[in-house]
Amino acid sequence: MSSNSIDSLLSESRRFPPDPQFAAHAIATPELYERAKADRLSFWAEQARELHWSTPFTQTLDWSDAPFARWFADGTLNVAYNCLDRHVLAGKGDRVALHWEGEPGDTRTLTYAQLTAEVKRAANLLTARGIREGDRVAIYLPVVPEAVVAMLAIARIGAVHSVVFGGFSAESLRARIEDAQAKLVITADGGWRKGRVFPLKPAVDAALAAGDASTVERVLVVRRGGNDVDWVEGRDLWWHEELAPMDAEHVAQPFPAENPLFILYTSGTTGRPKGILHTSGGYLTHVAYTHRNVFDLHAETDVYWCTADVGWITGHSYVVYGPLANGATQVLYEGTPDTPHPGRWWELIQKYGVTIFYTAPTAIRSFMKLGDDIPRSFDLSSLRVLGSVGEPINPEAWVWFREVIGGGRTPIVDTWWQTETGGIMVSALPGITSLKPGSAQVPLPGISIDVLGEDGAPVPRGSGGLLVVTEPWPGMLRGVWGDPERYRETYWERFGDKYFAGDGARFDEDGDLWLLGRVDDVLNVSGHRLSTAEIESALVSHPWVAEAAVVGASDETTGQAVVAFVIIKVAEADVATAEEAARALRAHVAEQIGAIARPRQVYVVSELPKTRSGKIMRRLLRDVAEGREIGDTTTLADTSVMQIISDRLR
Ligand code: WT7
Repeated sequence: MSSNSIDSLLSESRRFPPDPQFAAHAIATPELYERAKADRLSFWAEQARELHWSTPFTQTLDWSDAPFARWFADGTLNVAYNCLDRHVLAGKGDRVALHWEGEPGDTRTLTYAQLTAEVKRAANLLTARGIREGDRVAIYLPVVPEAVVAMLAIARIGAVHSVVFGGFSAESLRARIEDAQAKLVITADGGWRKGRVFPLKPAVDAALAAGDASTVERVLVVRRGGNDVDWVEGRDLWWHEELAPMDAEHVAQPFPAENPLFILYTSGTTGRPKGILHTSGGYLTHVAYTHRNVFDLHAETDVYWCTADVGWITGHSYVVYGPLANGATQVLYEGTPDTPHPGRWWELIQKYGVTIFYTAPTAIRSFMKLGDDIPRSFDLSSLRVLGSVGEPINPEAWVWFREVIGGGRTPIVDTWWQTETGGIMVSALPGITSLKPGSAQVPLPGISIDVLGEDGAPVPRGSGGLLVVTEPWPGMLRGVWGDPERYRETYWERFGDKYFAGDGARFDEDGDLWLLGRVDDVLNVSGHRLSTAEIESALVSHPWVAEAAVVGASDETTGQAVVAFVIIKVAEADVATAEEAARALRAHVAEQIGAIARPRQVYVVSELPKTRSGKIMRRLLRDVAEGREIGDTTTLADTSVMQIISDRLR
């Protein structure tokens, strides 16, 4: 983020105090902060007791083997039972769990009783196909009810899911299947996106064909797109055919609280994604507690909609586990926001009477550009809480969201968290916090955050530094799959006993937190995390490329955009013009990683700016990419390089 925008953020002075009427009915009370402060561990134990435990825990936290935490470790529970059966047993079986809407406009409604029955049948199917406690199952699906059913069925039998976002390429899918040694893949023929069926099954076929000695025994295929698919006899099975004969009775067995629940891959500072591991009791406690309090969930009357894809952590925590643990009614939408018309989201809010709406700043900014008339032609008066996640929300977008979508009434919760934290860590609480556009505001009750200088000492209010979490929390990652050393190194080495998040931040004079972007080589494009190293290695895997450097440049809509600088091999120089090369390389990255990683620009250059020790100076490339005056070049090995690069691009 440029220093300009940071200054304008920090001078933001608008305040939105809670509406007393809202506050009178709010789920969260100021007392939460007091209780958590008085005794943090008892506070979390109290939150955990909101769940159904088959064996109650006696110990809240075991931190003796730090940084490997164990929460509620001697307790046992079944995550799926908590999200399903217990609501049915409490007489809420007829409550709608999912109002699903396909992109073409087809719909399916599943009550808690129906969803429970589906999950039971799917659990029986997985067991019949040899899946046991601890086995890994990969999921590569569009946003269809089967994605939720599959995740919960896997959880129900104590197996571990690894959901791979459907926008990732065959190669990304292969790497994730191999790293987790998945035994089974659940996919679909295809799903609907932008008015067309996009095929998914071919990527699974390619991923499994490329892998030597794949661990995958079976592929279950949901029929959604209706597109033709290749079939490997003996390996591939139709989900609906397999499910039909299954019994809708299944007794959930309890598992230890620290039983692995899922692995979710995310980009780090190296070319290899990290498998972030989450476990059961602590994770479910954290997501249920935050979902209830941050969104002010009144489960009997609210209709909640989080627009995230189930392939991201937001989809895991705030589409599947948090809302279902709380017995919420929610909307689940398969498609893109602008298909078949740019008012589709607002139409869905009107149609289902959505009361709580959780989305990303990048989406808000794109709607803002389209103008107020589109949302104003729908009835959005049902909305009472709005949420934002994924990147800092700029004050203009915040105010637009509140005015145009929220009718000038709704609180907005800007929620800071990460794949690693499992659940929300920093946010306003609606009805309590006086809102400040652009700031993520305050650590939630039970969460301890600090901002440190390079030397590890807390910086004074008003100064920027590095965001750390100073005490373990129940939803925290338990490790990096198969690589305990990487876990220690990435998150705990820098400050010893404090979790290093990788974000820059500052507390203002009131104690509100402002996020200042990543401090490592991680990009944030439309709220999705990408690694510069991963994109660079995709680029150099192309035969034309000798060297590549990738930076994140600010982008009006997506927050950051991928900008690549490449040196083309001399021998290949006449094969392509710079435009041709750029086009081919953009496509190559999309094919290697997925469309989200496709560079906005690829610049062909003859040199990259490097220090004498050979380190690429990305700061200077960022200046070029953002069209700024180029900063200090005195540490470059060859100071003329930047002149050559900027001349070339002019
Ligand atoms: C990174 C985590 C959390 C789910 C979606 C992204 C950035 C996230 C905010 C926010 C400012 C934010 C951070 C963080 N981020 N939410 N409200 N304000 N920045 O999950 O892919 O794990 O990325 O997203 O930089 O470290 P993720």
